[in-house]
Amino acid sequence: MCGIVGYIGKEKSLPFLINGLKALEYRGYDSAGIAIFSHDKVQVKRKAGQVKVLENALKNDTDLIGHLGIGHTRWATHGMPNETNAHPHNDCMGRIFVVHNGIIENYKELKEYLQHRGHIFHSDTDTEVVPHLIEDFLRSNGDFNVALFDALKMIRGAYAFAIIDVKNPDTLYAVSFSSPLVIGVGADENFLASDPSALVGKSKNVIYIKDGEIAEITRSKIDIINLEQKKTPPEIVRLEWNLEQAQKGNYPHFMLKEIFEGPKIVFSALQGRLKSGKNLVKLGGLEQVNEKLKEAKRLIILACGTSYHAGLVGEYLFEEIAKLPTEVHFASEFRYREEPFEEGTVVIAISQSGETADTLAAIRKTKKHGLLTLGIVNTVGSTIARETDAGVYNHAGPEIGVASTKAFISQLTMLVLMAVYMSESNGHQLHHALLQELEKIPEKIKAILDKASEIEMLSEKYKDCENFLFLGRRYNYPVAFEGALKLKEISYIHAEGYGAGEMKHGPIAMISEKFPTMAIVPQNSVSEKMFSNLEEIKARKGPIFAIATEGDKEIVSLANDIFFVPKTIESLEPLLTIVPLQLFAYYVGTKRGFDVDKPRNLAKSVTVE
Ligand code: F6R
Repeated sequence: MCGIVGYIGKEKSLPFLINGLKALEYRGYDSAGIAIFSHDKVQVKRKAGQVKVLENALKNDTDLIGHLGIGHTRWATHGMPNETNAHPHNDCMGRIFVVHNGIIENYKELKEYLQHRGHIFHSDTDTEVVPHLIEDFLRSNGDFNVALFDALKMIRGAYAFAIIDVKNPDTLYAVSFSSPLVIGVGADENFLASDPSALVGKSKNVIYIKDGEIAEITRSKIDIINLEQKKTPPEIVRLEWNLEQAQKGNYPHFMLKEIFEGPKIVFSALQGRLKSGKNLVKLGGLEQVNEKLKEAKRLIILACGTSYHAGLVGEYLFEEIAKLPTEVHFASEFRYREEPFEEGTVVIAISQSGETADTLAAIRKTKKHGLLTLGIVNTVGSTIARETDAGVYNHAGPEIGVASTKAFISQLTMLVLMAVYMSESNGHQLHHALLQELEKIPEKIKAILDKASEIEMLSEKYKDCENFLFLGRRYNYPVAFEGALKLKEISYIHAEGYGAGEMKHGPIAMISEKFPTMAIVPQNSVSEKMFSNLEEIKARKGPIFAIATEGDKEIVSLANDIFFVPKTIESLEPLLTIVPLQLFAYYVGTKRGFDVDKPRNLAKSVTVE
């Protein structure tokens, strides 16, 4: 949440700051600001609203030519989203300038303490205590580094800071504690960002600043100082994301582009991992823990939001394919559980960003109990990728649209692979049909995308609804949740996902002519039961929009509208049935006139609890 950028080097800093903020805007977009060291002083510009408002305000500014700068795009936590609360914030003397991600939990007591000592505050933010606190320590000890360390000792919470000190104009300071910051290593220049998508096209070599570390970045050198105040060698990670992946191309929105990347995403998740001729799955990232995996008796999947819904599909997959009892938890609730952990329990964290605070806290809890932790993560080198014992990357490239679409598809693909990998019969004939079919999924997704205009037309009919019920069973029960989540976050229509069997236990009360149901009803082992539920809805005059299998005749008499998807094996159905639901959310959202890439109140990377 919130985006940070920083630059020091041979070029003027402003272009990178603005472009970097635009790339990070999906993390928060209610105000933006920059601070640039120019003409022997730091100049600050801030604006309420999206980065383009700031960009427009700076268009004719000829003053901001400095080579050291920091920037911020905000997702408000403390204080209204206005210009006064926009970052950067500074101390009383105008020496120290700070941008911040995360939350300073003890800011109230720090603010009172500092006000008592004469510091004047201008904003309602928690961030503003930071420059004042450093300033306060500088009064008793002139050394900036010492003052910074002393200030950090007093701050509680999760934070990432980028800092400029006017008296050290050759250095960009960066601090991270439970909130990510990554340095892009350049030639005679270095970049800073709160996630690597801002660095695409600038640097492929990145350094993640670890918890409690301070980075002192000059144009030619990067010093990392650890908690014990000792220099530690930087660990460089190679970032394979490219510029094309981080740009919209000919698509009007990232969300649409990312939905259309579906076939490619499945293909790249399978590449080098699926040996269908041998009925074998090879996951290099898990080989180092193979012996422990053989002892696995039970799985716990931890995730939030869309990744949690992928986890729910994983529960069915692991139980059916790997014969391992599996449970899925919201990472945000898991911290409150007093569950006794049995030996042989393996934990799987699923996260697109690899930075979700709740997921991170949940895996840290299981690690304390000595459990083996695995990650299914998209962002290379992210905190969850680093903190889990082993794991696999999705290789889906950067996901920029705030609503997760392609990451969900790649998570489902990875879960199928992982379930086969963890089954005792990996490499045996038993998986032949499943793995052969998995290879056909990209072309089947493509066949769905080729009919996107059908969904676009139907979305016109439903765009003014105020409510929607999504129903599915078995493998499509989590798809109902995910379809409803997509519709509500993109179009602000109230939508609920339910297991179809649960409908008669309550939700059926809502059904009326004005309350449509999206039924995910492909031909499979539970379709008869789904049809009975749809009869119940029809009897109450509820409109039905069905996602059904090509060639299904029975659905025609039941549903008002139908979108057909190709036939596949039941356990792979979510990979197909989710696609029309993602498209539906997209088209309804755009027809209602919303900015689907930046839905209100949301942020892509949820780094606060
Ligand atoms: C929904 C969405 C969120 C994320 C959730 C977890 O479209 O994007 O629900 O899925 O915040 O994020 P990650 O996967 O990054 O841990």
